[in-house]
Amino acid sequence: MTYKMTPKHPSESLTILTDLVLPSETNPLNNLFGGELLARMDRAASIAAGRHSRRITVTASVNHVAFNRAIPLGSVVNVEAKVSRAFKSSMEIFIDVWVEDRQSGNRTKANEAIYTFVAVDDTGRPVEVPQIIPETELEKQRFDAALRRKQLSLVLAGKMTPHEATELKAIFL
Ligand SMILES: CC(C)(COP(=O)(O)OP(=O)(O)OC[C@H]1O[C@@H](n2cnc3c(N)ncnc32)[C@H](O)[C@@H]1OP(=O)(O)O)[C@@H](O)C(=O)NCCC(=O)NCCS
Repeated sequence: MTYKMTPKHPSESLTILTDLVLPSETNPLNNLFGGELLARMDRAASIAAGRHSRRITVTASVNHVAFNRAIPLGSVVNVEAKVSRAFKSSMEIFIDVWVEDRQSGNRTKANEAIYTFVAVDDTGRPVEVPQIIPETELEKQRFDAALRRKQLSLVLAGKMTPHEATELKAIFL
C-alpha cells in the first residue's frame, strides 16, 4: 500500500521575516548589501520549505533574483516566502521583498526571488513532499509556470538535456 500525503495550500507555508537595515549590513552607498538580502531570503525560504514538508530542507538552487530597488539604511524590510509548487522532493519557493515606510506604513515591493529547496532525510537523501494546491490567482500563475522554471534550472545546472525540457521546448519551438 502506498501512503499518500495530504496536499497543502501555499498559505500554510507563508513565512514573513521582518527586520531593519543596520549600518553593518550596507554597501558604500548606504543601501542594503545584496548578500545580506540573499541570506535573509534563504532563511525565509528555508522556514517556508520546512513548514510545507516538515522535513530537513536544503537549498538546491537560486533560480532567479531581481534586485529592482535599493533598500536604504534604516528601512524596515519584510521578506515573504511561500511554497509555489512542490514536485517529488523539491519545492519552488517564491520570495517577495517589501520595504515598509516607517511613517505611513505603506509597503513598496523592492525585490523578488525564486529558490528551489529539497527535502532530505537524516542522511541527506531526498524524500517525498506533499503536493501543493494553489488558491489565489497569483498562486495559480506561479504554480503553472513552476515546471518551466524547474526545467530551465536543471538545464542550466547540466542535470537535464534541452531535448528533455518539454515545457521549454513548448515555448521556443
Ligand atoms: C540538493 C540535493 C539534495 C539534490 O541531490 P541530487 O543527488 O541531485 O538528488 P536528485 O537528482 O534526486 O534531485 C532531487 C530533487 O532536486 C531537484 N534538483 C536538483 N538540482 C536542482 C537544480 N539545480 N534546480 C532545480 N531543481 C533541482 C531534482 O529535480 C529533484 O527534484 P524532484 O525530486 O522534485 O523531482 C544535493 O545536491 C545536495 O545536498 N546539495 C547541497 C545542498 C546544500 O548544502 N545547500 C546549501 C548550500 S551551502
